[in-house]
Amino acid sequence: MLKALLHVLLLVTVVCGGFVVLERRDNPPNGFLRVGPSPPATILNLRLALTQNDMAGLQETVYDVSTPGNARYGQYLSKEQVEGFVAPSQDTLNGVNSWLKTNNLTSSPLTAAGDWIAVSLTVSQANTLLAADFSTFQNAGTNQTVHRTLSYSIPTTLRTSINIIYPTVTFPVAKHPSIRKKTSAASRPNKRTSAISSDCPGNWTPACIQELYGIPSTPATPTANTLGVCGFDNEFVDIHDLTAFLKTYRPDIDSNTTFSLISIDDGINNQLPSGASSGSSPMIQYAVGLATGVPVVFISTGTGQTGSVDTFTAFLDEPNYLLSLAQPPQTVVQAFDGVSFEFESDFTPQLAESICNSYAQLAARGVSYIVKGGDFGAANPFSPGGCLAWDVSFPASCPFVTAVSATEFLANEASEGAMSNAGSGGTAGGGFSNIFARPRYQDTVVPAYLKAIGATDASPFNISGRAIPDISAIGHSPFIFQGETVTSQDGTNFAATIFASMIALLTNERIAAGKPGLGFLNPLIYQNPTAFNDFPTGSNPGCNDANAFNGTVGWDAVTGFGSPNYAKLRDKL
Ligand SMILES: *[C@@H]1O[C@H](CO)[C@@H](O)[C@H](O)[C@H]1NC(C)=O
Ligand SMILES: *[C@@H]1O[C@H](CO)[C@@H](O)[C@H](O)[C@H]1NC(C)=O
Ligand SMILES: *[C@@H]1O[C@H](CO)[C@@H](O)[C@H](O)[C@H]1NC(C)=O
Ligand SMILES: *[C@@H]1O[C@H](CO)[C@@H](O)[C@H](O)[C@H]1NC(C)=O
Ligand SMILES: *[C@@H]1O[C@H](CO)[C@@H](O)[C@H](O)[C@H]1NC(C)=O
Repeated sequence: MLKALLHVLLLVTVVCGGFVVLERRDNPPNGFLRVGPSPPATILNLRLALTQNDMAGLQETVYDVSTPGNARYGQYLSKEQVEGFVAPSQDTLNGVNSWLKTNNLTSSPLTAAGDWIAVSLTVSQANTLLAADFSTFQNAGTNQTVHRTLSYSIPTTLRTSINIIYPTVTFPVAKHPSIRKKTSAASRPNKRTSAISSDCPGNWTPACIQELYGIPSTPATPTANTLGVCGFDNEFVDIHDLTAFLKTYRPDIDSNTTFSLISIDDGINNQLPSGASSGSSPMIQYAVGLATGVPVVFISTGTGQTGSVDTFTAFLDEPNYLLSLAQPPQTVVQAFDGVSFEFESDFTPQLAESICNSYAQLAARGVSYIVKGGDFGAANPFSPGGCLAWDVSFPASCPFVTAVSATEFLANEASEGAMSNAGSGGTAGGGFSNIFARPRYQDTVVPAYLKAIGATDASPFNISGRAIPDISAIGHSPFIFQGETVTSQDGTNFAATIFASMIALLTNERIAAGKPGLGFLNPLIYQNPTAFNDFPTGSNPGCNDANAFNGTVGWDAVTGFGSPNYAKLRDKL
């Protein structure tokens, strides 16, 4: 009876040409006010993510080719093989194309597989097509105006064919102010337990980091892989600072060593005095300074010719461009520090999932994609409720990337530990995703951690989510050059770059020996906790100390498995 009734209801919806809401929000985010309806003739350039043919199959393949011991370990897919998984089905294409055609619209593909398409249309067309109400919204702080809608719908018959239409309900996010501060050091036992040169703690240079983690200083020969460092928002890397850095800290290598450029969306590297970045420039210094002999490529995703590419779009375009290459860089670090947002809650679930799908495709291609664990602790200081909500960093929370949080090792300390430990004020991200479920490679450790801290379904964070970080490395506060002067900075972007440099060297060793590269790292990492230095104490408060996870023996939501040991990692390969 119930089934019959449902059937009737379904029929009625279809017969009436019903619409289903794809995404909606109650209000514009903090700072934006609706000014009025968007002018009907304004042109919108929308992107549609069509349902990929077999994302589940692709994800299974990622686990097979990335898990040591699996018969397919290291058998990464070609560009065409990945496209075979993600191209939309013929039914999907037929349905979407006939819908657009009925509305006198055409589309053009944005990716080779055709899973992203672009449609240009007027506001009045979009309002009809999507049962939307595109309006002009202005940000009170910046005066930036955008055309967005608070809700949009698609025909019910296309519900399983379209994942997301962008940009619609997602608003630009204002740059977060830095909350890092330095305060006096608190205590860890001061009997030094690490065998490290006595002048290293508190003075982190490339040589000291090489010593701490056992990173070789001999050049990778022959060069067999590339390390990509991502930048966004038209910031670029200052070559003079790189040269000054290498002269001072790597006198044993050619101080003229530089990097090549991949430009996406008109990303720049113009070396003009204004605009050198405080984010990617230091990351390139550590990439070139630690991944000795590995060619480094700066992957600069800009804002497009007319400035129309916002940072969310750049986050989509960057991995999708890398997927279009016959051979993407084998190791990529995406840890841009100047980015306008970094919290998962800044993304709608559909947008985060679409971006994460691109990282899964890079994983299938054998790319080790390494991201920062976040710089604001376990909670979001910018949340509307103010300093309350537990939140994690994205893309760190995507299950197909490796998330790296930060440690510190100060002058008066006996050993390395979580960055918050010594009261430096800096604290690194960690916690549980509200969007992505716990991936199977975490089943070996995360339930034990939840038990150790007494977390239950009633806990205020989502115990079923993907947990971060995976590992950690020094993030406080390595020496860098800025304006050709030495200074230092905190950030999980350093931690991610240090680890990516180690992975690039290990990958080089493998490929030079005729073996496949390391690819998606997490299954390997979770099989080999002993390749990392565990930090059983520490916590990651970041929001008036209100919310924080605590360290435990083994994996924890503060430092993951801890910091990497090069020789032990190499032994596991
Ligand atoms: C599409 O174009 C045709 C011919 O110009 C016109 O008759 C029709 O009304 C248009 N349909 C829509 C939905 O705009
Ligand atoms: C925004 O516009 C107002 C009114 O025109 C002006 O006073 C203010 O300085 C502007 N703010 C910014 C950040 O440009
Ligand atoms: C680096 O380049 C400069 C200018 O081209 C040159 O004078 C210098 O000799 C080079 N240094 C090395 C170590 O090759
Ligand atoms: C908790 O995470 C899961 C994914 O693991 C998600 O489906 C669910 O919506 C999340 N719950 C909340 C309250 O956000
Ligand atoms: C971390 O430890 C503090 C102090 O014991 C405690 O109040 C807090 O609840 C712990 N955090 C979690 C997430 O268990």
